[in-house]
Amino acid sequence: MLRQPTERTPCWLMRQAGRYLPEYRALRAQAGSFTELLRQPELAAELAMQPLRRYDLDAAIVFSDILTIPDAMGMELYFTEGKGPRFAKPLHGPADIDALRAPDPNKDLSYVLQTVQLTRRRLDNTVPLIGFCGSPWTLFVYMVAKQEGCSSQERAASALKFAARYPLPTQQVLSLLATAVGDLLLAQQAAGAQALMVFDSWGGATKQQFDHLSLPFLQQICQRLKGTNAPVILYVPGGENWLPQLQQTGCDCIGLNQHASLRAARLAVGGTVAVQGNLNPELLSQSEAQVREGVRKVLGDAGKEPGHIFNLGHGIRPEADPELVQCMVETVHSESSARR
Ligand code: CP3
Repeated sequence: MLRQPTERTPCWLMRQAGRYLPEYRALRAQAGSFTELLRQPELAAELAMQPLRRYDLDAAIVFSDILTIPDAMGMELYFTEGKGPRFAKPLHGPADIDALRAPDPNKDLSYVLQTVQLTRRRLDNTVPLIGFCGSPWTLFVYMVAKQEGCSSQERAASALKFAARYPLPTQQVLSLLATAVGDLLLAQQAAGAQALMVFDSWGGATKQQFDHLSLPFLQQICQRLKGTNAPVILYVPGGENWLPQLQQTGCDCIGLNQHASLRAARLAVGGTVAVQGNLNPELLSQSEAQVREGVRKVLGDAGKEPGHIFNLGHGIRPEADPELVQCMVETVHSESSARR
């Protein structure tokens, strides 16, 4: 992330601890639910270690979820089978916003910080630990009450409608979330996280409104993190449209999805920030030959200059084949060291 030369391209996977691993599914069944896993630091720390036992990954990520912040604001997070995350008290209008307060991480999210501490201890300085949060806009997308019949792909539509109808309350809640995200990232760093990542998974859905609905809050968060020595990764699918703006936030690394041109991004901003990505996660349910070809293409697009972190373009899918993940990590390491 600091764009220093390395012997091989570093590699980790978004959602590397998860349902594609049988040992994850076993622990989840034992705990009863995903939310139970989140709230038990011993179990969460174990989950972060699982992928590292199988693969020669170059980083660990804290096992948690971006939605712990709205949950701690009193919105009551739960998961429905097949329909993803929901809140018992979603945002319907401005009155719901008045009730929200930024949580105190040490009090309201102490289980996240304990997970960070425990995971760091278990890692014993083998690989760095990445702490994370969702971006204010992405959290807002989940917090706004979803219109009936609205698929997860169209989730952002309800949030965009809310933002158009109630512009000032929307800015107020995004600003509150920026404070909450900054607080939690700083607390994760204090608890032992060595790099910090902000997932703006729905940033691309803002289209022409990115400068208004997401960017100012990313900027605010990056400014607050400047004082720490932890590098900051901004993951923004669609971020290839806003590379100069993202670079100006002062972040250290920009994460892109598989639809972006890694080559163009490296040419545009590779001299000042690292770039992370962007293998198509679908390849991990295909074949070894396709995985190897995909890895070679990503490494070729990234070029030889330091400052590329290999990752998927999106979180790993539950259908991914653990053997193909092995093949991916090995190919990244062998091919990239041969190219040095
Ligand atoms: O190894 C890791 O990266 C684990 C930590 C992690 C999780 N979620 C655990 C998780 C991280 C970094 C996240 C980020 C996250 N969570 C994002 C941003 C990244 C992205 O994928 O865009 C978002 C949008 C969420 C919110 C969320 N959490 C959704 C939409 C879902 C359900 C959809 C899905 O993929 O099932 C979750 C559940 C979730 N978060 C699981 C895990 C392991 C699956 C829970 C389960 O059913 O066992």
